[in-house]
Amino acid sequence: MEKKMKRETVVVLDFGGQYNQLIARRVRECNVYCEIYSYKTGLETIKALQPKGIIFTGGPNSCYEPGAPTYVKEIFELGVPILGICYGSQLMMHLLGGQVEKAPVREYGKIEVTVNRDSKLFADVSEKTICWMSHNDYISRLAPGFTVSAHTDNCPYAAMENEEKQFYATQFHPEVLHTQEGKKMLSNFVYKVCGCSGDWKMDSFVEESIRALREEIGDGRVLCALSGGVDSSVCAALLAKAVGKQLTCVFVDHGLLRKNEREQVCEVFGENGDFDIHFICVDARDRFYSELAGKRAPERKRKVIGREFIRVFEAEAKKIGMVDYLAQGTIYPDVVESGLGGESATIKSHHNVGGLPKHVDFKELIEPLRNLFKDEVRQAGRELGLPEELVSRQPFPGPGLAIRIIGEVTPEKVQIVQDADAIWREEVGKLPPAQRPSQYFAALTNMKSVGVMGDERTYDYAVALRAVTTTDFMTAEVTLLPTETITTAANRIVNEVKHVNRVMFDYTTKPPATIEFE
Ligand code: XMP
Repeated sequence: MEKKMKRETVVVLDFGGQYNQLIARRVRECNVYCEIYSYKTGLETIKALQPKGIIFTGGPNSCYEPGAPTYVKEIFELGVPILGICYGSQLMMHLLGGQVEKAPVREYGKIEVTVNRDSKLFADVSEKTICWMSHNDYISRLAPGFTVSAHTDNCPYAAMENEEKQFYATQFHPEVLHTQEGKKMLSNFVYKVCGCSGDWKMDSFVEESIRALREEIGDGRVLCALSGGVDSSVCAALLAKAVGKQLTCVFVDHGLLRKNEREQVCEVFGENGDFDIHFICVDARDRFYSELAGKRAPERKRKVIGREFIRVFEAEAKKIGMVDYLAQGTIYPDVVESGLGGESATIKSHHNVGGLPKHVDFKELIEPLRNLFKDEVRQAGRELGLPEELVSRQPFPGPGLAIRIIGEVTPEKVQIVQDADAIWREEVGKLPPAQRPSQYFAALTNMKSVGVMGDERTYDYAVALRAVTTTDFMTAEVTLLPTETITTAANRIVNEVKHVNRVMFDYTTKPPATIEFE
């Protein structure tokens, strides 16, 4: 749907590096639309996109080794500006006649780089600026026509360019936050080199999407599974604005939601909410609890929940009958991580992409958020008038609290983890936004231990608190929170939540632990 709109596009050509989605996100933060394509994508496809600029990403290989990811040299003849980053910079040199070799000293970490401020790429950047380096190879000879535009103590060619041809290359990573002025560099590339005007804005995205959805759907009927998470809520809100009563949203309460989540979703989308749609809230708590009874193994629990969810959803869909469209809140990282977008491996097969209810009667799938990153989805949600509480929600797994309760799930345990989690979120929520972790929640360990309350001994559950910082959820660091936040929450939990007499803080990174507990 989106492709029909003619808008400036920058293409990220993915050579397998870990920061590739980040590059696209940073470009979009500059209000320039950006898409990721694998280096295996043919030149004709890239050409057809009429990109305003192309960015070669980093990657784990050595470009001079046989079989390393590469691209046809004709890409340099399109007349389109190109920026090569890390592996991308080396590949650009390698293909254009320079030389790349194993570096005598591996550069890794935050390194001071001296830049030539006359370069368009470094306009308004400080002469000495901290950049993030991570490379084993280095460029030992520039390709003909290139001049050096930045260096470090160990790296004579930290950045280089051929201004006439509009080819730029950096050995460091401007896309990561450790590169202090990286955003300025990317902004210089898209504005000063590629000549973009910055036509990618969420208000116009919302407006254009509503128009396009109306055109596509006509007087058809749409069914949308609403989970209460950010993506499906924004998807539903967009469709609600576009086609109103033609939309039916089905929200399944599987009894594994966070505290008050069902009420919040019903308030926004239900009868007295802001949208004029058909809204069905299915109370399936008992069904899920009885199916989960006695099940202890994580995978078993996940399977039961997945299966029951589809059964409940299908039963509702049957009552509604044939619909024309099934709407899903698939977002861009889901698409990329499922191996459909860039190159960065098929890391996990997302339940969102091409998944969910295969047997529901619908003619076509619509995914209006398919090209958006999470922060853009949140912004679109704000444009659509969704409450901040809903729009800024943390990621929440489909199996819900069931994977935050180790072992068997019971209604009593759900209540404990809901109450503890609400307190933890409230306390962490008091921190300034910049200090808040990417994801934070309480989990219920499957452990009881002895405590003392008043004069009495207790034998009750231990709650674990988790707080992690991550950009991609593939790896995660433990967020170092103020001690007071942790102790206040721990005190409140043992005092306010029945059957908890111990609170622990999880200090494990991912890997080796996962973010969730099961
Ligand atoms: P893990 O526990 O694998 O979590 O480190 C990484 C991120 O994925 C979320 N997660 C899930 N999301 N269905 C989902 O929709 C799932 O089954 C699921 N398991 C984990 C988790 O919350 C974290 O953000």
